[in-house]
Amino acid sequence: MTDIRHFLDIDLLDRETLRNILNTAKSIKLLDSQLNYLHGRSLAMVFEKPSTRTRVSFELAIKQLGGHAVILDQNGTQLGRGETVADTARVLSQYVDAIMLRTSAKASLMEMSEAATVPVINGLTNESHPCQIIADLLTIEECKGPVGEQVVAWSGDGNNVAASWIHAAVKFQFELRLASPKTLQNASGLIKWAQSNGGRVTVCEDPRLAVEKADCVVTDTWVSMGDKKDSERRSLLEPYQIDSKLMSYAKKDAIFMHCLPAHRGDEVTTEVIDGKQSVVWAEAGNRLPAQKSILMWCLGVSV
Ligand code: CP
Ligand code: NVA
Repeated sequence: MTDIRHFLDIDLLDRETLRNILNTAKSIKLLDSQLNYLHGRSLAMVFEKPSTRTRVSFELAIKQLGGHAVILDQNGTQLGRGETVADTARVLSQYVDAIMLRTSAKASLMEMSEAATVPVINGLTNESHPCQIIADLLTIEECKGPVGEQVVAWSGDGNNVAASWIHAAVKFQFELRLASPKTLQNASGLIKWAQSNGGRVTVCEDPRLAVEKADCVVTDTWVSMGDKKDSERRSLLEPYQIDSKLMSYAKKDAIFMHCLPAHRGDEVTTEVIDGKQSVVWAEAGNRLPAQKSILMWCLGVSV
């Protein structure tokens, strides 16, 4: 164990740390966005997969806090020609104060964090998306109050974002009901971990059951980066689409959330995502204070 503050996954952090990160994100929004908390600090971002929100919000986050970002993609670096992730981590650690990695394999993230001598941030893997969830929890608390008092319903693919929601349900103690087709549910080991750690987390196949009287209805793409787009997957997921009828089973003042990018007509109808209950633009906007707070925690800086 090292004392480097990696931000790898929500299940790896304690409740107090996570609450502090969330509260700092809130405070940051109230302060002048140009405060120099990270003056002279630098962040390398390595993208093995595409990104709009994560890339722009991290780059602006460190810039607005007085630091700067260097953006690398796999093909533009020696990673694309076979230099190992571990060697890349050792080299980047000589130049920058933190590294953010978006990759397919969790093993690459772990390799990066084990070899780096600076904090490593998980910018999404096939298995989780923890930075997204900090922004999502911020959005829930702004719209609905303390997250521990909310019921969150997920309808759709049991994917990487859903996995981070499961981690968060345990750490922030809210009720999470997931509805996914049997073959696309989150791993049973993850659900067992949540339940045995006091998480109010349930999985079912009926989206109406999950959404019934929920405070917050969430979904994500049916085809994550790296997934095969096939017709069987589509037909399995069609009953999980968030449309106005499904939303009507949630509380009247329920909000709709989506990490984006969205596919109107697939996982959500245009009517819902562009409707009054949707908070997806505020949610995307909250990636910025969330990234600032994550960076500040990793670098040991407080407000
Ligand atoms: N939600 C999210 O992480 O979006 P990007 O893939 O655009 O970064
Ligand atoms: N589940 C999606 C999230 C994108 C931000 C994916 O992995 O492609």
